[in-house]
Amino acid sequence: MDNDLTKTSKSPSPRPPAASVRRLREAVTKASAGGGQARVDAQKARGKFTARERIHYLLDEGSFQELDLLVGTRATAFGLGDKEIPGDGVITGFGQIAGREVCVYAQDFTVLGGSLGLAHAQKICKIMDLACENRVPVIGLLDSGGARIQEGVDSLDGYAEIFYRNVKCSGVIPQISVILGPCAGGAVYSPALTDFVFMVEGISQMFVTGPDVVKAATGEEVSFDGLGGSEAHAGKSGVCHFVAKSEPDCFRQVRELLSYLPQSRWERAPRVANPDPIRRTVPLLEKMCDLDPRRPYRIHHIIWQIADEHKFFEVQPIYAKNVVTGFCRMGGEVVGVVANNPAHLAGALDINASDKAARFIRMLNAFNIPVLTLVDVPGYWPGVQQEHGGIIRHGAKILHAYAEATVPKITVILRKAYGGAYIAMSSKHMRGDFNFALPCAEIAVMGPAGAVEILYSREIKACKTDEEKAALKAKLSAEYAAKFASPYQTASTGSIDEVIEPAQLRYKVVRALRFLREKRAPGAHENRGNIPL
Ligand code: HXC
Repeated sequence: MDNDLTKTSKSPSPRPPAASVRRLREAVTKASAGGGQARVDAQKARGKFTARERIHYLLDEGSFQELDLLVGTRATAFGLGDKEIPGDGVITGFGQIAGREVCVYAQDFTVLGGSLGLAHAQKICKIMDLACENRVPVIGLLDSGGARIQEGVDSLDGYAEIFYRNVKCSGVIPQISVILGPCAGGAVYSPALTDFVFMVEGISQMFVTGPDVVKAATGEEVSFDGLGGSEAHAGKSGVCHFVAKSEPDCFRQVRELLSYLPQSRWERAPRVANPDPIRRTVPLLEKMCDLDPRRPYRIHHIIWQIADEHKFFEVQPIYAKNVVTGFCRMGGEVVGVVANNPAHLAGALDINASDKAARFIRMLNAFNIPVLTLVDVPGYWPGVQQEHGGIIRHGAKILHAYAEATVPKITVILRKAYGGAYIAMSSKHMRGDFNFALPCAEIAVMGPAGAVEILYSREIKACKTDEEKAALKAKLSAEYAAKFASPYQTASTGSIDEVIEPAQLRYKVVRALRFLREKRAPGAHENRGNIPL
């Protein structure tokens, strides 16, 4: 008997396949067909890929192993019993990205609008369980009309099962949601519970209630895209972390993101060979020390200069631009960067920036990624709107996130670090592991102008003319600045470990990271969920 199965296909006169094999092949062909040519054409006409094409482009070539292809719906109401519903409208399985295992599901809009019925939900849950038990990331490609209306409350229960798993997997394995069509109603809460949300310009939409309901309820008129498109969620609501110009661009970004993440909370992000010398100096930072302290600059210029090969992968680049978050490598090691950006709101912390930074820090902590904090902050952003909007409650999230984080924390004060914001940005007493400052750093309870108004109010009021007042203020401000607007008082108490040569910043951070590699802080092994903040 010939046991070599490969010979069958090479045989010059192949035997016809056995009836059982023929039956399998027919079933697979039928189940793989999606919702038929007309619906596939409609999908393409909208500039969208099919669910199978998406998986093909996302994963390493030929790595996809499909599961549950032959699962069908058991629901029969409203004519469902008479319909073909291939794969129940979702494709699930596992595959590889850059040679690392991932689990994936892709909703198929050509099958009942990708709507979620019970079997559809069970397939997603099965793949999530598989990902969690085997400690690999899970990626959802969402394109769906939401709860399958014909299946009633079974669909809602299916969503609940997914949400429950999103929470159980939170901080355990990376969860990524890629919105590639509509995502409506309560269905939006699964992506919101995951670590990262991607959207594609022009084709992705997320909303709890659509434009018609909005109009009926509030009278506001808005388009689908205006209400829940990528611009709205990346720039205004903060739901979306990454926007792509096209689906291929989106899959490229997902693959890049994964290169910065570990497979699970039990691992570290992959270290790569680093061709960029760790002792490379950064002359730009010396120039920065010459800059007028009131002059804004984009913090990106500094991050690009210190990162390996000048690469920075920014997270939420158009939301709360006063704080910049993202990944880079330093000496081959992945680092999460949290940085004030003086180019927006002077780099101050407001409500949205606090939420953005705090959630990012908590995600880094969940996945064992060190935090590099670059500080240039004049304080919390003032105003009635901020106070009534809850800057106290939101600002406290940053304090909580840094104090809770047990991963290596390296802080560099570049320029301003005033008041509560100095404390919040991973200061020494919030348990920064290494706190550095540049020689041009200004660390104080508040800026000179504000401080002299309070300290010398009586003397200022006693001045007879405005000119006299201005001259006194200028003199007192200069005295205050000479004493406090420097890093030396803080260095003298040990709250700054070292005032460093600006050009040495990259080397200092890499050395600190290497030293902290085996850091073991109390509580480091506890489970840490990444709650949406
Ligand atoms: C069953 C659905 C469906 C749904 C779409 N379809 N949504 N079938 N349940 N929820 C079907 C359509 O009948 C149609 O079938 C096919 O999918 C394509 O839909 P179209 O409407 O032709 O497509 P399009 O014009 O692109 O519009 C897409 C859409 C629209 C905007 C998503 O279909 C729509 O508004 N659907 C309903 C959205 C919704 O309200 N869902 C419930 C949200 S509440 P045929 O056979 O004609 O191709 C919810 C609760 C979740 O989800 C709660 C979780 C806790």
